Amino acid sequence: MSDGIQNVLVIGAGTMGAGIAEVAAKAGCSVRLFDVSAEVLEAGKARIERSLAKAVEKGKLGADAAEATRARITYAGEYGDVAGLDLVVEAVPEKMELKKQIFSELSAGNPTCILASNTSSLSLTEIAAACQDPSRVLGMHFFNPPPVMPLLEIVEAEQTAPEITARVRAFAARIDKSPIVVRDMPGFATSRLGIILGMEAIRMLEQGVASAADIDSAMELGYRHPMGPLKLTDLVGLDVRLAIAEHLTRELGPQFTPPPLLRMLVRAGKLGAKTGEGFYKWVDGKAVPKK
Ligand code: 3HC
Repeated sequence: MSDGIQNVLVIGAGTMGAGIAEVAAKAGCSVRLFDVSAEVLEAGKARIERSLAKAVEKGKLGADAAEATRARITYAGEYGDVAGLDLVVEAVPEKMELKKQIFSELSAGNPTCILASNTSSLSLTEIAAACQDPSRVLGMHFFNPPPVMPLLEIVEAEQTAPEITARVRAFAARIDKSPIVVRDMPGFATSRLGIILGMEAIRMLEQGVASAADIDSAMELGYRHPMGPLKLTDLVGLDVRLAIAEHLTRELGPQFTPPPLLRMLVRAGKLGAKTGEGFYKWVDGKAVPKK
């Protein structure tokens, strides 16, 4: 089926928003990338530039295609014309009230467009309930780095219309992602498992089981994970993982409780790769074990 998606608005120009904008533009969509912060927008643009350059360097994209992708993305400090949009993907911090406000505003401004959230764990059903037409709301959960990771986790709210899921499935094929469709349960199919592994790895570090690098090597070399759970937490952002763990603890139980070490590093502003330090130091994009 044709997904009917041409004009896309991505809300939030952080790591995920910028990556999602790049992926949609590569597939031929006209993309507006919005952020309230001019600084974040600028950083998002630089991230896309770096990623396109790397894709060309790695032979994943021709130079012409990269140029055409660049030309399809505009950067905006306002939503602009929402009436002409076919798809909105929201990728703002994990704050329910903020998401509800964004979705309610957009659903009032456009009666037909698909409204998707990139949330890692929050309830799509609750977000949808804030909308005039909740049947157009669903989760489109991308993975970091979005241009590389092949999965798209489609999360159906209680209210999502089957036709909306079908169109997003078709869109997934267009953007070269493999979709899975999951029910709106906290943590879906991915974060629920990923967070358990991440939190347990931090507890092991606290207990002195092994160094961060050796805990990661255990999973990389023993289980063939592309990246160990502590390095991955640095990549995703310690603040992001803490917010998900707190939410899943409230919703599902104490097995998700974030360890004190995670809270302490977040309080210290050591959020991982994006701030230059988390469980590792990050130098020129590479993780260096801490002494
Ligand atoms: N555009 C397109 N392709 C690119 C690219 C780009 N900008 N950059 C790299 N690639 C391709 C490369 O060509 C390569 O392809 P190949 O395997 O066919 O040769 C592949 O991507 C890997 O790239 P690199 O060789 O440069 O990098 P690494 O081999 O070091 O892999 C990594 C980096 C992909 C980040 C890998 O370490 C990995 O998969 N880590 C785990 C990531 C992960 O688990 N993410 C999920 C996090 S959870 C999440 O996001 C959920 C959220 O809600 C919090």
